[in-house]
Amino acid sequence: MSRKITIIGAGQVGSTVAYALTLKQIASEIVIIDIIKEKAMGEAMDIRQGTPFIGPVYVHDGDYEDAKDSDIVVFTSGVGRKPGQSRLDLTQTNVDITKSVIPQITKAAPNALYVIVANPVDILTYQFVKTAGIPANRIFGTGTMLDTARFRARIAETYKVAQENVHGYVFGEHGDSSFVPWSLANIGSIPVDSFAKSYHGPKLPDFDKNDVEDYIRKSGGIIIAAKKCTNYAIGVTTATLCEALNYETDSVLTISSMLDGEYGIKDVCLSIPTIIGANGIKGRLEAPLTDSEIESLRHSAECLKDVIKQVNF
Ligand code: APR
Repeated sequence: MSRKITIIGAGQVGSTVAYALTLKQIASEIVIIDIIKEKAMGEAMDIRQGTPFIGPVYVHDGDYEDAKDSDIVVFTSGVGRKPGQSRLDLTQTNVDITKSVIPQITKAAPNALYVIVANPVDILTYQFVKTAGIPANRIFGTGTMLDTARFRARIAETYKVAQENVHGYVFGEHGDSSFVPWSLANIGSIPVDSFAKSYHGPKLPDFDKNDVEDYIRKSGGIIIAAKKCTNYAIGVTTATLCEALNYETDSVLTISSMLDGEYGIKDVCLSIPTIIGANGIKGRLEAPLTDSEIESLRHSAECLKDVIKQVNF
């Protein structure tokens, strides 16, 4: 395998993505670019020096021209959320950073797949699609992949079943208007709602859907309040997305992309289950949702469109 991945931003998230990609051996070359060159150099050197115990991955820092021939570019440059700050508060700052990076990186790597991680991820993904001159099927955000992982982990924890037996997705904005379409959620093929009733075994704990959704929405904020950033779960989420891009076998992932009429929604980036593989997005799935779930998705789209109106791209 010969895959080159460039990461823009050597902060907590960018460097953890580089480390997760290295541990998973998803790339043969990883380039780290940051406006603070010394930071990129230090992170790359630190990760590279562990590679004799991992495998032949060449991790180094670089400038934009070093991104030439990248298969994937991961975008993590931006200011992180401060404790108590919402993702949308830092929108204009991160839009401005994105604006300055887009021409430089797209000139160097016009044929790459672009993975947007920086927040607000749905807005920055929209900005990329609208302004980068790269086909929309090659640009996507990590979206609600992490929220979906949190959802599966929470259900698995509650019912003490393996996470891989929990199926379901978080839809919408990666943020406050995200929601779980419970009509699609199941454990070992049994709808989550019927799971407890169908279970012949030790008594199961009570379970409240609102608590689960609250837990998903608040997790990022709780972690930031405790340790000032989130990096590990988003690092491995991003590496998993990059891994899916290595294969011709397509995956279903809740990544953020430009909707084109699904559920009557257009001209906004948000997450619904999306088919993705080596050439980027192949298609999106319009899963059968209940009327109120469709309403929630449209509400999420409206929240994002409100922000889009207020931002200067
Ligand atoms: N070009 C390149 N790198 C830049 C630029 C730029 N124009 N502006 C800022 N950076 C770099 C910073 O120098 C810093 O190293 O981006 C990095 C951001 O790192 P952190 O401040 O540690 O932020 P981090 O926690 O990594 O979060 C980055 O990812 O998950 C999201 O919400 C998070 O939007 C945030 C992003």
